Amino acid sequence: MHGDSVSSAGPDSAQDARPIVSARGLTKSFGPLAVLKGVDFDVLPSQVSVVIGPSGSGKSTLLRCCNGLETADGGTLDICGKRLADHGRRLPEKELNALRMHVGMVFQSFNLFPHLTVLGNVTIGPRRLRGMSAEAAEAAARRLLDKVGLAAKADAYPATLSGGQKQRVAIARALAMEPLVMLFDEPTSALDPELVGEVLQVMKDLAREGMTMMVVTHEMGFAREVGDVVSVMDHGVLLESGPPAQIFDAPRHPRTREFLQAVVTRDTARPREAPPRPMPPAIDDH
Ligand SMILES: Nc1ncnc2c1ncn2[C@@H]1O[C@H](COP(=O)(O)OP(=O)(O)O)[C@@H](O)[C@H]1O
Ligand SMILES: [Mg+2]
Repeated sequence: MHGDSVSSAGPDSAQDARPIVSARGLTKSFGPLAVLKGVDFDVLPSQVSVVIGPSGSGKSTLLRCCNGLETADGGTLDICGKRLADHGRRLPEKELNALRMHVGMVFQSFNLFPHLTVLGNVTIGPRRLRGMSAEAAEAAARRLLDKVGLAAKADAYPATLSGGQKQRVAIARALAMEPLVMLFDEPTSALDPELVGEVLQVMKDLAREGMTMMVVTHEMGFAREVGDVVSVMDHGVLLESGPPAQIFDAPRHPRTREFLQAVVTRDTARPREAPPRPMPPAIDDH
């Protein structure tokens, strides 16, 4: 999706590369509630960086800071070499919008435009924000829809799609902007269990192609298999980071052990056919 100099850099060659995402001492409060309490965080080119941790620990807020949906109160945040947040100051709106084009985001609830077809959803960004011609945007969109296995759904409306299909459209839409990094916020949490795999497969394919990814997920299998680095958040603090084997098999922090134990207990207690965890309805609210 992006230049060869980036996509050819595997995890090893990325050691010396400049991080795509770099946070130092990042803080964020909502009123009296401190949600990020000094987070240091790097994502190197082509890395798949997985963030896990209990609900309410600040994972979504961290992601939202990375594409400027939230502004950190303190610390610094550099994205693609640009200082997005600098001790409470953020980029002017124009620069922020330019930077956002390089940061793709996929949400739990898809957020597709219900009045546009699948093709319309995938072409609108490149046409409106990048000034691409209708023909070029459509050609690119069709390639992306083929890549996520939805070439046949180009003319369908989101309401006629399954959750897994909607989420794959959302991924294609984000990719259409040719982002340098993709942020995923629990992309499979709103899906029926049998639809999770098709979305994770698309994400795995992206990872294999060298896309830089920051993924908040409760899918521990994905984290272990696809993650280069797994980071554990708890109460606004990054408890520990490391290769999946270290985090899952030899966690250093007692709270990491507690969290992993709770997840394992939940997953083994949940029968395969059970309905998905209670979630707000997956509405394409625009
Ligand atoms: N816009 C907001 N206003 C007030 N509180 C918020 C807002 N966004 C998140 N929070 C609170 O911040 C905490 C962390 O939220 P979040 O980053 O969504 O955690 P996670 O994604 O790990 O579940 C939670 O207590 C949440 O209720
Ligand atoms: Mg969240």
